[in-house]
Amino acid sequence: MSEKILVTGGAGYIGSHTTLLLLEAGYEVVVVDNLSNSSLESLRRVEQITGQSVAFYKVDLRDQSQLANVFEAHEFSGVIHFAGLKAVGESSEIPLDYYDHNIYSTINLLKTMQQFNCQRIVFSSSATVYGDPASVPITEDFPTSATNPYGRTKLFIEEIMRDVAVSDEGWNIILLRYFNPIGAHKSGLIGEDPQGIPNNLMPFISQVAVGKRNKLSIFGDDYATPDGTGVRDYIHVVDLSDAHVKAIQHIEQLGGVSTFNLGTGNGYSVLEMVKAFEKGSEKPVAYEIVGRRPGDIAECWADASLAREKLGWKASFGLQEMVEDTWRWQSNNPEGYSE
Ligand code: NAD
Ligand code: UFG
Repeated sequence: MSEKILVTGGAGYIGSHTTLLLLEAGYEVVVVDNLSNSSLESLRRVEQITGQSVAFYKVDLRDQSQLANVFEAHEFSGVIHFAGLKAVGESSEIPLDYYDHNIYSTINLLKTMQQFNCQRIVFSSSATVYGDPASVPITEDFPTSATNPYGRTKLFIEEIMRDVAVSDEGWNIILLRYFNPIGAHKSGLIGEDPQGIPNNLMPFISQVAVGKRNKLSIFGDDYATPDGTGVRDYIHVVDLSDAHVKAIQHIEQLGGVSTFNLGTGNGYSVLEMVKAFEKGSEKPVAYEIVGRRPGDIAECWADASLAREKLGWKASFGLQEMVEDTWRWQSNNPEGYSE
């Protein structure tokens, strides 16, 4: 019998891609999601692509009794925990919601897992835990800090998970620190579907290219980077998802808590991303330079050699494929899943 994995937040951007790859790797998948930032259509399309079914429960992770019902109905060999709120700016406006959805939910989840004797979890952390790094590339032993409530939830959850692992050596935990996920599955059927005005660069650029927005605002061209615009480590969402499958495969053998950076090790500037997108989409991307966005850092890219050594994982998609796959999704689905 195949192993069954619970994916929280599995209807979302990264969760839906990971669900797809888990199914292709032979796992059964159960998704819980409250659909606050996603649509069930993503999972229908995953089913369409794979020809397999996904059990879905519309559950808010803050509701422990509903979560327990899911654990009553299924025996999980592991959990991949994506669910949470993720908008950096919004987190400063409604911090309590971020602590509630991210930290309280995670505590509920860990308690429920303990209750049902499921002690393997892979958690979505973020490169934001490195704050403003002193140098690049960033390795996992760099000092951590947070500059906003969203980042603090990631840091706190990492600490909570480390405490849990110390309290009971039966736990196997993997903390994955994502750099900047972009791209979409090759089918063009699933991808990132932000609600309202996108906060992140790539969805904004693709909405300009498809004609939904007039122009991109580039937040500052006076950083200490080669062209003055911010530099980030963009990673294809399918590569990122593949790392989760490998994490589940290695979690027992690794034991305790492990922390891995997930990036490509390459940094690209905002202007380089605009150019790459214009090339990949053959559409112009109008932009203007505006002031810096508060809290942004100049540059950030990963040393991901630890994930290569311990998980046998390495990013395989280059920049041009990332933008072409983003564009295929965006141009086929200009209104996202809501069409
Ligand atoms: P997403 O918003 O597409 O997915 C998150 C999902 O969680 C959504 O489907 C949402 O409906 C669900 N959710 C939120 N609160 C919930 C709750 N209380 N109960 C049940 N479901 C809930 O985001 P994503 O980009 O797929 O990100 C997944 C995870 O990766 C998040 O934890 C995010 O913080 C982390 N992460 C994302 C990025 C990024 O740039 N996308 C970078 C680093 C880390
Ligand atoms: N940028 C613009 N204009 C925009 C949006 C972004 O110029 O409209 C610039 C930013 O200033 C930055 C770069 O594009 O230089 C990337 O910005 P994103 O908002 O796409 O990504 P960030 O690196 O700021 O943050 C993202 C996620 C965080 C996560 C972090 C590290 O939003 O949640 O990556 O993983 F923590």
